[in-house]
Amino acid sequence: MTVQPRRILVTSALPYANGPIHLGHLLEYIQTDIWVRFQKMRGHTCHYVCADDTHGTAIMLKAGQLGITPEQLIAQVKQEHEADFADFLVAFDNYYSTHSDENREFANYIYLQNRDKGHIVSKTITQLFDPEKQMFLADRFVKGDCPKCGAADQYGDNCESCGATYAAHELKNPRSTISGATPVMKEVEQLYFDLPQFQQMLETWTRSGTLQDEIANKLAEWLKAGLQPWDISREAPYFGFEIPDKPGKYFYVWLDAPIGYLASFRNLCERVGGIRFDDYWAKDATAEVYHFIGKDIINFHGLFWPALLTGAGFRTPTAIYAHGFVTVNGQKMSKSRGTFIKARTYLDHLDPQALRYYFAAKLNDRVEDFDINLEDFAQRVNADLVGKLVNLASRTAGFVSKQGGKLAAHVGNKALMDEVQGAADGIAALYEAREFGKAVREVMALADKANQYIADAAPWALARQPGNEAKVLEVCTDGLNLFRLLMIYLKPVLPALAQDAEEFLAIPALQWSDARRLLLGHDINAFKPLMQRIDPVQVQKMVEASREGLEAAPAKAEKAKSVGGMAPSPQEGGEAIGAEIGIDDFLKVDLRVARIAAAEHVQGADKLLKLTLDLGHETRTVFAGIKSAYGDPEQLVGRLTVMVANLAPRKMKFGMSEGMVLAAGPGGSDIFLLSPDEGAKPGMKVK
Ligand code: 2FM
Ligand code: ZN
Repeated sequence: MTVQPRRILVTSALPYANGPIHLGHLLEYIQTDIWVRFQKMRGHTCHYVCADDTHGTAIMLKAGQLGITPEQLIAQVKQEHEADFADFLVAFDNYYSTHSDENREFANYIYLQNRDKGHIVSKTITQLFDPEKQMFLADRFVKGDCPKCGAADQYGDNCESCGATYAAHELKNPRSTISGATPVMKEVEQLYFDLPQFQQMLETWTRSGTLQDEIANKLAEWLKAGLQPWDISREAPYFGFEIPDKPGKYFYVWLDAPIGYLASFRNLCERVGGIRFDDYWAKDATAEVYHFIGKDIINFHGLFWPALLTGAGFRTPTAIYAHGFVTVNGQKMSKSRGTFIKARTYLDHLDPQALRYYFAAKLNDRVEDFDINLEDFAQRVNADLVGKLVNLASRTAGFVSKQGGKLAAHVGNKALMDEVQGAADGIAALYEAREFGKAVREVMALADKANQYIADAAPWALARQPGNEAKVLEVCTDGLNLFRLLMIYLKPVLPALAQDAEEFLAIPALQWSDARRLLLGHDINAFKPLMQRIDPVQVQKMVEASREGLEAAPAKAEKAKSVGGMAPSPQEGGEAIGAEIGIDDFLKVDLRVARIAAAEHVQGADKLLKLTLDLGHETRTVFAGIKSAYGDPEQLVGRLTVMVANLAPRKMKFGMSEGMVLAAGPGGSDIFLLSPDEGAKPGMKVK
């Protein structure tokens, strides 16, 4: 089938310039890179651009902690990111930075266009302000006691203990996480992009049929609930672009981050020449534009971004392709388990193509989470790539070399060759649809047939008898042609292996259309091993190295989740598991069995009961937010429960609370005090 040439621009989400690339990120970059390589092999014009996302408070603070300027930090991180991507064979056509002239120009232009069309509104709001650092505090830089359950040390947007959401100024005993000072309320003028003006445009765009169903449904829910103006300004000090008509105010990082797609592409156009920016981004552009992203940033790409572009007179993306989060061995990536694996740590131990293959083998077009099972990973790569694909070449090449290194002039098994060549269009359609797992399964089914044929023909047995030379050469020519065809189909996934195969077969870079031809009467080079088996010991070493690389958990990032997704908790549908602590922290918690000696209502408190807890050798008073479940406190008297006995006493409105009882449940009438087994005695340590 002849393929009509297309012009395609592809992006992956821009990683933050404040930390290393890890396996959670790589799923997205590898998924995108495979798709881009496939498009290029098909002969399309395809540009893949990305950049570091460099602005925001988190980057400014991190640079401050390191004693360097934000510019120094982002330069250093960019180098590391680029090296990681290159070593994972992620081949951007341009990797740029949001801290660039092009991005400033586009950000200003898009803002001013939107302002002139009446899409920017301003409002004076009051916000928490750090009087010591003289800066306004975003929610994540304020901590205090939850206004709902009283849990200490909660962030300014939601409580990790009871799940309540609230405004930062509602926190009790608030403090700035930057200076420790008590924040004060201060008025500030805030600029908003008036998203509700785009309701109708977004309703049409999101139903245009080019989004994944899960995304279209999610966006429809948000659209139904009604859109809110989106705040796009931040006060100094802020590392970003100053807003042209508002000195002292800066664009919020999320305003100029997606604009980085335009900036990087513009830079590519200028750098290489021959590509016209407007062909891709003008309102009536006919080229295609695709954004690959993680599911945590759908709102930015599915709502704000198309609206911002429309408001400024640009075209909207052709489609947005979202993927799920990465888990390792069925769980959220974890530093203590050694499964928070950085790109560099992986590269120190294993072949990047193994991970590319594993991702491809399990990826589909949906927004599902992706589990890297490390045992399955090693087995699958070894069985498929070493045992099936490379095996086809390694078991046949030597016999061709022995006969002078020239392939036979004709094939032996035409039927099998026809079948494998005939699979090209079907496999291409699967790549196009991002059904890489199905594509890989189809290739491996063909590899099984090919190996079976070679095993049955047994050139090694034939070669023992003189006079079989022609037959041996014919079978081995088949084997190497089958290997070459399968290599074409896997080249988007395994570009380095394909390059080695091209060298061995002495052929130019393989294109998709090369599957129509066979390699006959052609001189090949001597075979060299193409791929090593994965040694499970190396996998273990990588896990150990990731465990050793333990660092203190980073402060809550500028945005809730990381790009391209390591799995944050809560996973959808589940209950949030709180921040991870090490065993040392856990051992500090003194859990004791306590008998409830008395339980009473607290005058003026809606949720609290006052409990007197008998610890054997002492009694404690604890105020517990369990009234909704135990309206009759009498029923608690005499019961055993578990308490945190070494919690620092906290002064509450109704008196001093000297510990905390442990309970489980979603709340309301479903709160269950944890009870130890009968036989436990007050004061016993819980282990
Ligand atoms: O979520 C993130 O990590 C962001 N840095 C992604 C930005 S994508 C694009 F909009 F720039
Ligand atoms: Zn709470």
